[in-house]
Amino acid sequence: MRAPGTEGAGGGEPVAGASSGGAAPDAGTRPGCARILAVANQKGGVGKTTTALSLGAALARRGKRVLVMDLDPHNCASAHLGFFPENVSGSALDLFLADTVDAGAFAAAVIRPGQAGFDFVPGHYRLSELDMDLRARPRKGVILKEALVAVADRYDFMILDCPPHMGVLLANAMVAADLLVIPIQTDFLALHGLRLIFDSIRTINRVLKKPLAFKALATMYDRRAGACVRVLNLLRRKLGPRVFSTVIGLDTQFREASADGKVIYEVAPDSRGAREYLQLADEILRS
Ligand SMILES: Nc1ncnc2c1ncn2[C@@H]1O[C@H](COP(=O)(O)OP(=O)(O)O)[C@@H](O)[C@H]1O
Ligand SMILES: [Mg+2]
Repeated sequence: MRAPGTEGAGGGEPVAGASSGGAAPDAGTRPGCARILAVANQKGGVGKTTTALSLGAALARRGKRVLVMDLDPHNCASAHLGFFPENVSGSALDLFLADTVDAGAFAAAVIRPGQAGFDFVPGHYRLSELDMDLRARPRKGVILKEALVAVADRYDFMILDCPPHMGVLLANAMVAADLLVIPIQTDFLALHGLRLIFDSIRTINRVLKKPLAFKALATMYDRRAGACVRVLNLLRRKLGPRVFSTVIGLDTQFREASADGKVIYEVAPDSRGAREYLQLADEILRS
């Protein structure tokens, strides 16, 4: 099966074009350009949005220029920060529907949420219709990659908060990404959802020049629960170095932060969760 957005532009050639020397240069692999991290897992509630926002804020606290983008039609990252389609002037939707995106058009979709420390592109509930809207669009798998190139020199990191289902949005994010970060709740049921994301990686790899790098992130880890410990051990055994050394524990401060429309560093900078996402940022900066 092909991932939506990776099929040909009307012929047999894969559109992702990421592979075929299309118009988009390889952002993120050129020095001085942003590294693009897609945070994805088809299972919901595993910590994708929390990771995108907290890691973005942590990297910003390490002095990095960061852009976070909400690609989920549920708009959870946007709602977390207090942004809704009715109170923002632009969103990720504009970037997908425009014929071409230059730095000016991209900037029109960017907002700066309070003290979070990063630039932010909000989502839009109409992103859910994108598979239909783009059905006849040539090279629809590289729309995001090409749009990000327009501002890649303005950022050190671009973090994409992905939707929990395969479609043109997730395919675009995976094609654009230098690294796929897969948050995995340390819970036996969460392991069942993993098959889908690994199937998607295999599908996307068919159209990429080099295989998509990925790394799993253990989240909501409760060190007192034997089941959590066993799941983490299993992940490390199966995936080895493709699991971050950093583990994100359970911390109620994440819920407090989202209720306040803030990132964790604004409400509880010394909390365990805040420290662990800084550790994750440092691990990524070292790699
Ligand atoms: N490490 C954590 N400890 C406790 N609660 C967490 C943690 N990470 C996320 N949460 C909470 O779990 C819920 C789902 O997280 P979220 O990041 O929205 O998942 P996803 O984006 O994968 O659907 C949210 O209410 C969030 O505040
Ligand atoms: Mg989410």
